[in-house]
Amino acid sequence: MKKNRTIIWALVVVVALVVVLGGTLKLTAMTSSDNFCITCHAYEKVSWDYGQHPDVGCIACHTKGVVQDKTAGLRKVYLTLTDQVDPHRDNLPSYLDKTQDNCIACHMDSERIALMPVFKERHDEYLRHAPSCMSCHEAGHALKLKDLRTPGTRLRI
Ligand code: HEC
Ligand code: HEC
Ligand code: HEC
Ligand code: HEC
Repeated sequence: MKKNRTIIWALVVVVALVVVLGGTLKLTAMTSSDNFCITCHAYEKVSWDYGQHPDVGCIACHTKGVVQDKTAGLRKVYLTLTDQVDPHRDNLPSYLDKTQDNCIACHMDSERIALMPVFKERHDEYLRHAPSCMSCHEAGHALKLKDLRTPGTRLRI
């Protein structure tokens, strides 16, 4: 009898863990989708549609790793819900370094470098004279559209 109970409890715990883990994974996937991002970043959606990367998802360029993304994401939801930042109006900070790591991961992977060693050599030289990829390339957002955004002053922070 006691053994049975132990087994039942063990099963309950296992099922609960599976549900929690499944929920977390689903939530992670949901909050990484383009549709989620554009609820707060409608302007960026438009400039992205007309940019060079409409087939590359937001998160592919803007990730800093799942844990950091979700921690920063929670903070952003908090800032938005408490009216401290209005992501549609306010000037948003850009962290170019992280974005650039992701550019490099896609465009300068070992396969490409092997195919086009000159590309890598030229770009090493370019990067000695320019602070980032974005000084020469438009990348994720069509600049003309991006510049139409007239951010207001931030509410607080
Ligand atoms: C609930 C609203 C909300 C959602 C949803 C949201 N953001 Fe943001 N985002 C913000 C706010 C607010 C800021 C400004 C944060 C700050 O001031 O530190 C911001 C800033 C940013 C920035 C500029 C700062 C940085 O981290 O480089 C990027 C890029 C960004 N968001 C991308 C995304 C992506 C990609 C998604 C979808 C995975 C997303 N956002 C979903 C509200 C949101
Ligand atoms: C998820 C992978 C991925 C990421 C991240 C990414 N790109 Fe791209 N990029 C592509 C794809 C796919 C194309 C379409 C053309 C191709 O196949 O090369 C492209 C096209 C381009 C082009 C045009 C190339 C041409 O032949 O005209 C440039 C320039 C470029 N990307 C720069 C960047 C920069 C700068 C960043 C970082 C902000 C970046 N990319 C991030 C995948 C990516
Ligand atoms: C100083 C300007 C400059 C900087 C900085 C720069 N590029 Fe370029 N990029 C160019 C020029 C010019 C070309 C076309 C000639 C060439 O391939 O060298 C080019 C071509 C490209 C192409 C197209 C290659 C092809 O033909 O398929 C991609 C993709 C690209 N760059 C990505 C990047 C990424 C990613 C970074 C940042 C790590 C970057 N570039 C930084 C000037 C720059
Ligand atoms: C190919 C890479 C790439 C993709 C895909 C991409 N972005 Fe960006 N994003 C950038 C770069 C690069 C910057 C920085 C531009 C700058 O500061 O010049 C940026 C800046 C931003 C900012 C900061 C605000 C600002 O004006 O600088 C937000 C918010 C943002 N992107 C949201 C998004 C959302 C939402 C999506 C998907 C709909 C998306 N991005 C898709 C590369 C990308």
